[in-house]
Amino acid sequence: MNQLATVASVLGDFSGVGVEYGGRRAVFLRQGDDFFGHQELATLAGARSHSHHDADQASCLDCHMPRIVQGFTGYNRSHRISSPSEPEILATGMPNTCNLCHLDRSLAWTRDTIASRWGTRVTLSPSLMPEFGANFELAAGAYARSPLGRTALPALTRHLEEPNAYVRLRFLLAVERILGRRLSDEEYTLMGGDERRQTQLRLLRGRLPNL
Ligand code: HEC
Ligand code: HEC
Repeated sequence: MNQLATVASVLGDFSGVGVEYGGRRAVFLRQGDDFFGHQELATLAGARSHSHHDADQASCLDCHMPRIVQGFTGYNRSHRISSPSEPEILATGMPNTCNLCHLDRSLAWTRDTIASRWGTRVTLSPSLMPEFGANFELAAGAYARSPLGRTALPALTRHLEEPNAYVRLRFLLAVERILGRRLSDEEYTLMGGDERRQTQLRLLRGRLPNL
């Protein structure tokens, strides 16, 4: 999988064969020693008319392989190629690719934009809020990469009180990336006792938003 796509390494049939997936069709083509899929999207103009974003705003990978896999210190791309309009993602409140960038927008905004720009209607489940709340760790990673990160500091620092040290670490990494510096041991001790941490967090929160 990680080899260069060369005539020697590619085993698939790229002679114009089509594959049906999720009700859609992809065609695999070869020109000389180069391999192509989705050729209609290979030009900047073609990509833009499909994605409604400039390439430097959102790439194919950003929308179709979002960063929803927790690595040790960061968030990796999913290996599963998905579509933002998949009901299994958007309708269930799983972290979806659009809102991981558009953190200040609601799921309803995403649903309506997908309907108006891509023409696909998704019905949101009425019980979304509790499910979305459970995924705040992924949102922490997204806030850490976003200019909106500072607005989320109060919510993120609340999670520095989580009982599980690994979960605390994820929020600590997000807070530190937003601040652009490490918190000193005096300010926050990841593995210190509960009492010490609570005192530290009271002080930290008192210093928001100018932490
Ligand atoms: C801003 C988000 C976004 C970006 C960037 C994006 N796509 Fe998509 N893509 C979508 C959405 C939304 C759908 C689902 C459309 C639907 O439900 O009909 C989709 C669907 C697709 C499909 C399924 C067939 C189709 O046309 O509906 C393919 C293939 C695809 N995208 C390839 C790409 C490639 C290749 C790129 C990079 C050039 C890309 N996409 C960039 C949002 C995006
Ligand atoms: C990698 C980050 C990224 C992803 C993923 C992404 N966008 Fe965007 N989007 C941007 C940026 C950057 C802009 C341009 C700046 C702005 O206006 O916010 C933008 C602009 C927009 C706009 C026009 C401005 C506005 O806020 O009304 C809409 C609508 C939009 N995106 C919808 C979507 C939808 C729907 C999806 C999912 C299919 C999506 N975006 C996925 C980064 C992203």
